[in-house]
Amino acid sequence: MNRYYNPVRFYQGKGVLSMLPEVLKERQAKRVLVIGWNESVFSLSGVKEIKNNSQWEQKQLVFQASNPRIDQLFAVYEETKEFAPDTVVAIGGGSILDVGKSLCCLYGKEIDCVETLRTHLQEKDLAPDQTVWIAIPTTAGTGSEATCWATIWDPEQEKKRSLESQDNYAYAALVDPDVLEGMPLRLAVSSGLDALAHAVESYWACGTNGVSHALALQAIRVMNVALKELSQKNPLAHEQASFGSMLAGMAFSNTRTTACHSMSYPLTMTHQIPHGVAVSMLLGPVLDRNLPAIKDSKPLLEALEVENGTQWQKKIRTILRQAGLADSLSAWGIGEEELPHLAQMGNTKGRADNNPVAFDTTEMTHILQEIYQ
Ligand SMILES: NC(=O)c1ccc[n+]([C@@H]2O[C@H](COP(=O)([O-])OP(=O)(O)OC[C@H]3O[C@@H](n4cnc5c(N)ncnc54)[C@H](O)[C@@H]3O)[C@@H](O)[C@H]2O)c1
Ligand SMILES: [Zn+2]
Repeated sequence: MNRYYNPVRFYQGKGVLSMLPEVLKERQAKRVLVIGWNESVFSLSGVKEIKNNSQWEQKQLVFQASNPRIDQLFAVYEETKEFAPDTVVAIGGGSILDVGKSLCCLYGKEIDCVETLRTHLQEKDLAPDQTVWIAIPTTAGTGSEATCWATIWDPEQEKKRSLESQDNYAYAALVDPDVLEGMPLRLAVSSGLDALAHAVESYWACGTNGVSHALALQAIRVMNVALKELSQKNPLAHEQASFGSMLAGMAFSNTRTTACHSMSYPLTMTHQIPHGVAVSMLLGPVLDRNLPAIKDSKPLLEALEVENGTQWQKKIRTILRQAGLADSLSAWGIGEEELPHLAQMGNTKGRADNNPVAFDTTEMTHILQEIYQ
């Protein structure tokens, strides 16, 4: 049986951002909080039109941090809880989308300090009350516009926390390639590799299904083209990446990710390796180990244009280097003696156990050793 659920209203293509006022009207929004990754987003076509509108009150906020920490989420909540928005418009990369998505689950609850917030996250006491969010991704991308979970980082406790609620899919996603123009190549490549990883991991996930399989294969084909075009500085690259990352998001929204994401979290938390880079370095070694267990691996390998993980790892390393990104753990400043601890931290519930092959800490250490130099 194929089962698939995703209630997000998706709008994708050049210029769809101009539909934001219409979407807010349909939502009958009255109090709108707009969080952007920088000031410039407030003057984008579609966003500037919602500023002085008699139908709703509006508050704007800039949130620039990457990989939002629990204390940063608490600070935004504190700053906006009096305003009590019924709609949050999040305009940014995965970090901002995850903050916007998380906020909806916090309004209406008594949260007086970071510790209380931590308890809510731990106890999964997080259904949204009245607030919905609208996703406008400016990277391509994390696919957060399509998923009902958000990553909140808790380095103090060496934990990546997942805020998750089936009731917290975006009300709508406006996925517009125009907002990607001018983004740095490193960010475009890093987030593009993240999207590719979502599609591939969705394909081989234990929780995969026929619908996600189809979405994932198409996402891989489109992202492969996008990544080639990005390295050639082809202006069409952003259009491909915008579409491909949305498809990948739709694919993994129903399957979750697997060992690569699981093992990447400590690399990002302890050594600030960008999320997409950390995940992509792990893809080749994990593909080699997963290959015998992947149901219908032929179309996957054809879409990836490789015969095995070793070939694929070479390709990914080239993509990273061409974008000026380091392609090994040692180059990101990790000491070889840290690998066993990083492997131990990389066993994330709901991700590692969704991989078609089970890896113990020893095997995870071997995988990290393979990408060490
Ligand atoms: N919820 C999910 O389903 C999901 C999936 C994958 C990743 N994530 C999370 O997303 C985060 C990573 O997101 P990301 O890779 O999009 O990066 P990001 O959101 O952390 O952004 C990286 C940096 O680029 C800036 N930026 C954003 N858009 C830009 C643009 N168009 N031009 C120039 N600069 C821009 C940001 O302000 C930030 O400083 C991680 O925390 C990861 O855990 C969430
Ligand atoms: Zn990811």
